[in-house]
Amino acid sequence: HGPNCIDIRALYKELGYFTYDPGFMSTASCRSDVTFIDGDAGTLLYRGYPIEQLAGQSTYLEVCYLLLNGDLPSSDELHDFSRIIKEHSMLHEAVRRFFDGFRHDAHPMAIMVGVVGALSAFYHDNVDVHNPEHRRIAAHRLISKMPTIAAWSYKYANGQPFMYPDNNLSYTANFLSMMFGVPSEPYQPNPVFVRALDLILILHADHEQNASTSTVRLSGSSEANPFAAISAGIASLWGPLHGGANEKVIRMLEEIVHSDKSVEDFVARAKDKNDSFRLMGFGHRVYKNYDPRAKIIRKMCHELLEEMGDMGADNQPLFDVAMELERIAMEDDYFIERKLYPNVDFYSGIILRAMGIPLNMFTVIFALARTVGWISHWNEMMQDPESRIGRPRQLYTGYPEREYRPIEER
Ligand code: ACO
Repeated sequence: HGPNCIDIRALYKELGYFTYDPGFMSTASCRSDVTFIDGDAGTLLYRGYPIEQLAGQSTYLEVCYLLLNGDLPSSDELHDFSRIIKEHSMLHEAVRRFFDGFRHDAHPMAIMVGVVGALSAFYHDNVDVHNPEHRRIAAHRLISKMPTIAAWSYKYANGQPFMYPDNNLSYTANFLSMMFGVPSEPYQPNPVFVRALDLILILHADHEQNASTSTVRLSGSSEANPFAAISAGIASLWGPLHGGANEKVIRMLEEIVHSDKSVEDFVARAKDKNDSFRLMGFGHRVYKNYDPRAKIIRKMCHELLEEMGDMGADNQPLFDVAMELERIAMEDDYFIERKLYPNVDFYSGIILRAMGIPLNMFTVIFALARTVGWISHWNEMMQDPESRIGRPRQLYTGYPEREYRPIEER
């Protein structure tokens, strides 16, 4: 800035510099107004609002409005937004038939990648990515249809009839109703579960340029169809180092609970560089202090299990092991030096499990929550005059030029 400013882009072009930065440890790929993280202080803000305040006072739909539009809604705006989201919750009957194409034991994330990608076939010619109104409708469609797609992937795997959305219920209660209800016996959503799930959705709604959001941006930067770009984001989220971690956390906690080895033994394995075992739910690329979401969710986990009493008793040993693991790791130099703290997914799985949600649905719920973050970033990118097609450079380490040899000479 100022009279002596340097045109960095021109300078780089002239000098031919680029950075080699595997995993984008220190390269900003874009500018963004959506979410702020201070990993050292353990701060997370959505559009400037601290996550603790949103978690304590808002609903997931209110947070969706905030992320998409940049500010909190008035009550009229929220009312209109809820109505619009409900309007789009149905799936085309032809989309319904897509589910039949999957094996009965398909992972619901695989179904979700396929079905969300398939939506691009239904909303293609009518999505002009340069038209703000088209982008707005695409955003509403995605936020609205994700609970239906998520719940139906579960129903399909269980061989149960699909439940259609019930527009008399809230966003989160409707999802639970489509998951656990059957047409002959509508599900009465437990208000404690609804609140706990709503909180999980709020905490997972956005997290700036993580792997899946960067995937959505990169694929969308070619002006590809937004439904296809979101499908790419879901694929990226699926991995165990990202959204798949919450499923792995429960498997790890169950293994510890049922093992004759102590929690200390598992911590020792995580430190052993000859053992590929890692403490799932520990560590984060950006948070080098406690993940603020983990604090909120640990409290909710404790409250939920207490509230559930005997119904939640099954999950208490897992929660106790999780607390023990956290205590031991937090006193261990290995974890202290590397600044490895529990992340949001260390406790979220226990809540989901206590609610009766099967393990393979955990990442699906993460995807459902993160859809609003993905689409907010995509929308922001599409209106940023500086944004351009993503095209990372590489450090070539292969052969120099060499001569082609005919096959009989090789
Ligand atoms: N258990 C044991 N050691 C760990 C762990 C862990 N969970 N996480 C990192 N480390 C160690 C690494 O071995 C490495 O040690 P070294 O310096 O001696 O080689 C050091 O800590 C740094 O780890 P990196 O993998 O380089 O850190 P990076 O920032 O690339 O990875 C990640 C972050 C992927 C989250 C990692 O901590 C991890 O694999 N955690 C477990 C999976 C997990 O919980 N993922 C969820 C992420 S949050 C989310 O998606 C919402």
